[in-house]
Order: sequence, then structure tokens, then C-alpha cells
Amino acid sequence: MFFHEILEAKPDPIFGLADAFRADVRPNKVNLIVGIYKDDQLQSHIMPSIQKAKERVLEQDLIADYLPLDGLLEFTEKIGALMFGEAAWQANHSRIYAAQTVGGTGALQVGGQFLAQEVTKDVVIPLPTWPTHRLILERANLRVSTYPYYSRETHGIDFDPLCAALKELPEKTVVLFHPSCHNPTGCDLSLEEWKEISKIVKQRRLLPFFDCAYQGLGEGLEKDRAAIQIFLEDGHEMLIAYSCSKNFSMYSQRAGVLFVVDENAAVKLRVGSHVRKIIRSLYSNPPAHGVRAIAHLLQDAKLKAEWQKELDQMRERIHRMRKNLIQGLKQAGVDFQFLSDRKGMFAFLDLDKGQVQRLIEEHGVYLLDNGRISLTGLTSQNLDYVVKAIASVCK
Ligand code: LMR
Repeated sequence: MFFHEILEAKPDPIFGLADAFRADVRPNKVNLIVGIYKDDQLQSHIMPSIQKAKERVLEQDLIADYLPLDGLLEFTEKIGALMFGEAAWQANHSRIYAAQTVGGTGALQVGGQFLAQEVTKDVVIPLPTWPTHRLILERANLRVSTYPYYSRETHGIDFDPLCAALKELPEKTVVLFHPSCHNPTGCDLSLEEWKEISKIVKQRRLLPFFDCAYQGLGEGLEKDRAAIQIFLEDGHEMLIAYSCSKNFSMYSQRAGVLFVVDENAAVKLRVGSHVRKIIRSLYSNPPAHGVRAIAHLLQDAKLKAEWQKELDQMRERIHRMRKNLIQGLKQAGVDFQFLSDRKGMFAFLDLDKGQVQRLIEEHGVYLLDNGRISLTGLTSQNLDYVVKAIASVCK
């Protein structure tokens, strides 16, 4: 009897709730839980440009072989150019180590383990943040604490307390940032604020770790990389975990990259040697099919243009749904105007736990217990229903 004393673990705050949604038999239930892009018919099809690329690379999958430990070079190179911008990538890539990882989560785990093993044990994450950040980084053997990010009272970023908290951190602490589409709040720092933060990070000798999971879904590919460009220009060493799940609709192919920006090419070599060892002990080598498709797409100018157009359409639908939600709520007599300048897939409604519970239990409208909704679960069909439900728990 080895296992009988094991207690059941708490369900995952995101995927656990998705299970509860599936089990709910009410026909009018609404799923605003997981950050997956869905169209107005609630379909989450793979993007057509990606589908074409996948078909074109099928033959490559007939070769039975492993990828190198740090993955497909064409893929990491192309994502590097997308993430940093072509010119910045060309100018800096001799000192940026890149490893293909099992999704953005894999990049956070590998990066976290590398930091815990070679650099420091301390990391701070924003409050609030994606609930999985703590889980991943603690599993990586880091000590996780938080820094203030968002105020429910002002419905905005707590910028002064944020800066004050960074100034108090011991040297070498890792600071996790969302470069765009902050999950769960959707509140992003302005360029001026990023510049200010970059200065503090430099003065305090802190180490930035960016989690970039939504490039293109905030304000577009270029604007969504602005924070990272500021840090690159300011000469920081840093880590970036990049996810292709949302912007390439590659959720189940687990395509991601860990970038480590180093001082120079010699350091890059040594850093890479440790990262590869960590990957070898975790899962040996990453999966090939999804990243071959992405590399092919980014190498083919026509296909890349098609993908960019599809990405723009996804962003526009999210934006439209946010606007319609605010408008509908206004007509229903509740003011959620504060959501209007938010970015990305999520809206953070600033509801309390009781209100969230009522939305789920009384109306079958499922959202995270912190009040986050995924805007792509809203459609022209269910918007009125959701508006009425939210308004009823606010009155
Ligand atoms: C989310 O926050 O809903 C997404 O990033 C999906 C996930 O893995 O949690």
C-alpha cells in the first residue's frame, strides 16, 4: 500500500474549471475560461495559413530521427527575428542563445531550472499573474514572491508601488514581466513606464525574465515586442519564454522557445551547454511537426502575409468583443469603461469571489475565480446573455 495516504491535489484553476464546465448540462452555459481563440461560432480551428504549412511539411515527418536537444534551428532563428525584430535579431543573435521548448510553459520551466541551478534562487512575479507561473517556477526550485502590479480600486496598474517594490529587491533577483497582453488583467505598461522600469532593473542589477505568450494579439506584432526592444537597447541580459500556442494556433503542438540574451558569444556557448543538459534530463528533445510548419510559414513570404492577416483578424474580433461587452454593460446600467484600453484575450472584471460564484452557479457563465474572462468565448449569440448575467451580479 504505497499510495493510499495520498490526498487529492487541488484542481487546476484554469483546466480544472474547464472540466467543471464540460460536466455542466445547462444548454445556455458559456465558457469564458481558457485563453483559446474561438471565432463567432465558437470554433477553434487551426489558422488556414498554418494548416497549409502543416500539409506542406508532412513529408519531412516521414524521416524517423530526433531533433537536436535545443530543437530546430530554422524555427528558433525565425521566431528570434519575429520576437526581437529582424534588424535587432541580426545585430544581436551571436549573443542570444535560443532553444526550442515544449510550449511556452516548457520555456519557463527550462529557464527557471537554469536560473535556479546557475544564477539565483529568487524570482518575483506580478500580483496578479497567470496562476501557473508560481507552480512552474517553484517546480524549477526557485523561491517565488510577488511584486504589486494591479489595483482593483483604481482598475489600473499600481505603477508607483511597483517601482518602489523593484527598488527594494536584492541584487540578482529575477523579475518576471509580461511584455504585452498581461494575463490576467490585460493592463500593459506604457513605453515611458517600460523605460523607467528598465532603468530601475539596471540600477538594482535585477534579471528580467519575459513571458511572451500573445505576440500580435495586443496591438500587433511590432508594438507587442516594444518592451523587449527597450530592454535589448538598454543592454540587459535577460530571458524570454516565447509561446506559439495562441498566435500560431499551435496549442497542442507545444511549440515554444527559450531565449537567453547574454553579454557575448562566449557566454552564450556556456549558457547553452547547461540549458541543453536540463532539456536532456527533462524530455530529451522537443517535438518536430508543429515547429517545422511554423518555420516553413515564416520562410514563405506569401504564407507569412496570409498568417499576419489572419492574426490581425483575430485581434480585431477580440477588440470588437471587448467594445461590445462594455457597451452592452453600459446599456444594462453598469459601468465597465475601465476595460476599454486593455490589451489581449482577457478582461479582468474586478468582481469579488461571491459574484464570480453566482455567475457560475446561477447563470452557467464560467470565468476564473479572480474575475478573468476570455473574450474569445463571447459571440454575437451569447453576448446579451452574458451582459445580463454580469449586470445582475453587480446590482
Ligand atoms: C490561459 O491563461 O488560459 C492560457 O494561457 C492557457 C493556459 O495554459 O492556462
